[in-house]
Amino acid sequence: MAHIRSSERYGGIAQALHWLTAILVLAAFIAAEGGPESRVYSPERDGQRILHESLGLAVLALVAVRIVWRRLDRVPDHGPMPRWMTLSSALTHGLLYLLLFAVPLTAIFGAWWQGHALNTYLFAEIPAPFAPFHDLGDALTEIHETLGDVIIWLAGLHAAAALFHHFILRDKVLVAMLPRRK
Ligand code: HEM
Ligand code: HEM
Repeated sequence: MAHIRSSERYGGIAQALHWLTAILVLAAFIAAEGGPESRVYSPERDGQRILHESLGLAVLALVAVRIVWRRLDRVPDHGPMPRWMTLSSALTHGLLYLLLFAVPLTAIFGAWWQGHALNTYLFAEIPAPFAPFHDLGDALTEIHETLGDVIIWLAGLHAAAALFHHFILRDKVLVAMLPRRK
């Protein structure tokens, strides 16, 4: 089946996955609350934690779909660009993909090794498939908190680069991720 679309843009599904992911990452970040384990898992904090875990697991599900879809769909070609720009863009996108997996996975395995089940709206309880290993769980949870901050900084830089392309360089990079105007 031929894809009838300009090679300048990402396809509709790739765009939907991109923007939905961006919203969910931001929402998960806003809903995040750290602090001592006893507080994070206290009954008063259940609601907020379930929200955060649900948003974060949705991010993981979406990036898994997206990485498969990316291989089936076409990725736009922006034409010639300076080498440093091609490289830094590939590096940023690669790191963002890596973090989209690493942020949720460090949280999931961290919680399991700490001995906690995952709690989400869709699946009320996903118990740890292995015995607790508390120190490892603590370490992963800390890494999760740090990477959760890193993905926001990197996404901010990435968004600034997209705006720079659009308003300063006046090229088609941002438009590539925007729906076609009717
Ligand atoms: C893109 C997805 C996610 C982002 C951006 C994110 C971000 C964060 C951040 C920044 C913190 C630290 C908050 C603070 O120190 O004030 C945090 C904590 C936490 N996150 Fe996530 N998170 C994500 C996904 C998940 C998932 C999938 C889970 C499911 C297990 C999860 C569980 C937790 C827990 C339990 C804490 C508290 C850690 C503790 O102190 O025990 N997060 N998250
Ligand atoms: C948490 C937020 C975000 C994440 C995790 C994220 C992640 C990504 C990733 C991984 C790609 C590479 C897509 C691919 O080629 O497969 C991408 C592309 C893109 N993103 Fe984001 N993004 C975020 C927010 C934003 C924002 C706020 C903007 C705009 C202001 C933006 C604009 C773009 C554009 C224009 C592209 C296409 C770049 C190109 O073709 O070279 N993104 N994004």
